[in-house]
Amino acid sequence: MTQHDAVEIITAKRDRHELTDSQIDWVIANYTDGVVADEQMSSLAMAILLNGMNRREISRWTNAMIASGERMDFSTLSRPTSDKHSTGGVGDKITLPLAPLVAACGVAVPQLSGRGLGHTGGTLDKLEAIPGWRAALSNDEMMTQLEDIGAVICAAGTGLAPADKKLYALRDVTGTVEAIPLIASSIMSKKIAEGTGSLVLDVKVGTGAFMKDLDRARELAETMVSLGKDAGVHTVALLTDMSTPLGLTAGNAIEVAESVEVLAGGGPADVVELTVALAREMLAGAGVTDIDPADKLADGSAMDVWKAMIRAQDGDPDAPMARAREQHVVDAPASGVLTRLDAMAVGLASWRLGAGRAKQGDAVQDGAGVVWHARPGDEVTQGQPLFTLLTDEPERFDRALESLEGGYDIGDGAGFTPQALVIDRVS
Ligand code: URA
Repeated sequence: MTQHDAVEIITAKRDRHELTDSQIDWVIANYTDGVVADEQMSSLAMAILLNGMNRREISRWTNAMIASGERMDFSTLSRPTSDKHSTGGVGDKITLPLAPLVAACGVAVPQLSGRGLGHTGGTLDKLEAIPGWRAALSNDEMMTQLEDIGAVICAAGTGLAPADKKLYALRDVTGTVEAIPLIASSIMSKKIAEGTGSLVLDVKVGTGAFMKDLDRARELAETMVSLGKDAGVHTVALLTDMSTPLGLTAGNAIEVAESVEVLAGGGPADVVELTVALAREMLAGAGVTDIDPADKLADGSAMDVWKAMIRAQDGDPDAPMARAREQHVVDAPASGVLTRLDAMAVGLASWRLGAGRAKQGDAVQDGAGVVWHARPGDEVTQGQPLFTLLTDEPERFDRALESLEGGYDIGDGAGFTPQALVIDRVS
């Protein structure tokens, strides 16, 4: 590898020059090995946030992060693979019903997931609310479960894209998370290294999402789709609304319960709609076009895969789950139509009640969270329960209530138009 100097690379990007392939390879490899210091990488990340990278630079950056670790290979499986990644939202439990649903349609789903940080929950945190369930699997266990059951949701091992692991933690504390080139390369390096054959991206837009406006969300989606295609992974993105939280629950155990309702053929209409829309894309990406996933929810086969998937990871799908020790009900202050329910307000409330963590390594409460009893467009009557707040620690209620203040509107409903859930598709 050609030798470079970290300062030369930082100043090049500071002065708005394109980085060469060789500079990118060198800086990622040497940051992973500890030769490039954190303060140098954080300065480069800020230069990238301010001055951007072009498609070639982003693609090379992504490949260099993939090359920093191992690549998984599912090509020996007897079925095709497809995976989904969501950029993160409030009440976003879609992975839970989606993975077993797609597996029930004959496509294997290797879902390497993470724990939550901040106001959006993590898939592993939700599943860990199921008694006994184990997030850590060896590569061999993962392969066996994919072949036998067809779906695995587990923790990403430390071997996949270690450069990203280090860089993401650094961005988190240096104000450099929001750079589209860095977000796109971070997400896609992990998904490409994971070895899925096809990929569907759920790019969230709205107050509860990373990307608050549609133009930036579209730019992120287009960047990720082109990275996937360059790597030979069939990749499609849906831009979906995250101004309103998904379903009726945000928390851990309560989101598992809502997902199980969907697998049982019920559940909130928006959760069902998004689960089925993403399942159709995942199946099409894997070449399966003759099965309607909605049928597999209705006939119970997705539920069978769910139970097998949970049992294979030592969980008991029929065991009662944690319930918060304390609850506080917020009544509707007026009668009318709920015209707005803000995803960020609900996400913050759930986080403050103990469902999420303030820093890596903190414990989360399985039973904590928020249940809302109406969705935008629903009629409400003054005095009826609007929210139920759940926590083991009642001293958390005040701060959670503060975050809900101003987070919803009740009006006469005139002029109210529901926001479409799937806003656009990028392929
Ligand atoms: N999720 C990731 O994995 N990386 C980012 O940079 C942002 C969200």
